[in-house]
Amino acid sequence: MDRAVLDFANLPFAYQKTDQNIRFWFRDGKWSAGELTADEHIPMHIAATCLHYGQEVFEGLKVYERPDGRIQTFRSIENAHRMQRSARKLWMEPVPDALFREAVHKVVRANRRFVPPYGSGASLYVRPLLIGTSAEVGVKPSQEYLFLVFVTPVGPYYKGGLTPVRLLVEEDIDRAAPGGVGDAKCGGNYAAGMRATLPVKEKGYAEVLYLDCREKKYLDESGSSNFYAIIGKSFATPASPSILPSITNMSVRQIAKDMGLAVEQRPVSVDELPTFNEAGCLGTAAVITPVEAITYRGKDFVYAKNGKAGPITAEMYKRLTAIQLGEAPDPYGWTEIVSEG
Ligand code: PLP
Ligand code: COI
Repeated sequence: MDRAVLDFANLPFAYQKTDQNIRFWFRDGKWSAGELTADEHIPMHIAATCLHYGQEVFEGLKVYERPDGRIQTFRSIENAHRMQRSARKLWMEPVPDALFREAVHKVVRANRRFVPPYGSGASLYVRPLLIGTSAEVGVKPSQEYLFLVFVTPVGPYYKGGLTPVRLLVEEDIDRAAPGGVGDAKCGGNYAAGMRATLPVKEKGYAEVLYLDCREKKYLDESGSSNFYAIIGKSFATPASPSILPSITNMSVRQIAKDMGLAVEQRPVSVDELPTFNEAGCLGTAAVITPVEAITYRGKDFVYAKNGKAGPITAEMYKRLTAIQLGEAPDPYGWTEIVSEG
């Protein structure tokens, strides 16, 4: 394998052209065989339901090169299941488990030379996309769907590794976090968040931290990740109907439990900000990113001093990434080999 010539250690989190993407079409009640193509564009009807009525859901997962050179996925079946739930919410045709798995495996193998080398700190991001493609003008579901998966090598989404970032609690913009329709990972939710997020990023914050829409009292999630706080010997993470059920969060809850922490999934009030010992963001792109400080109503609550993550965050990060990268045994059965070399 001749690896792609890229500066893997300094990759941004951005689209990078790779060799091939894979496509499956749902037509006449059945899914087609997968087609690998180098074409980066899709032919689209002007009245496709994804364009007008937002019949569009997506996923995000990563594959990693292990120290032994093999390539592995991390909990990709959970992405398949979440995408099925998202599709049902928008009355779309869900992609079956086996098709999702086949798509991920084939597209990763077809782009093997773009998988960042072990130790580079980068990974191959896998982006499954499901869209309604048939023409409708009334508010009706599409008859046909395209399931497409592309990959792109990425570096860190925030500052990277255990470098802490700042968050700003959002109060003024009346909208929900991107998981605003519960389980569903829909593109439109993210577009609606840009208005809240982009001005804040210009001020040096990694993200806004959304509050619940109804009372503006409970922490929800950030624009691209879930949130947790360490309070004494507890790992507390918001329970909310309007956050994305993060697979990283689900995994870290297990790890926290195994570290002897009490795991609490419950409403977490802004009034508790002064009680946090540590805080962090959780996600495929975010991994575990320590929070340096949270600004709320002009006041800074500081959780990481001198650019250093707290000890519990650092230990959770070590355990999670060791499994994702294949450095440590995977006692949970979370990983699956996609390519032997
Ligand atoms: N919340 C939002 C809004 C996200 O976009 C993501 C990323 O996918 C997450 C949370 C984290 O979810 P996961 O850990 O499954 O990537
Ligand atoms: C992910 O972590 O996979 C995300 O979807 C976050 C962001 C890139 C939208």
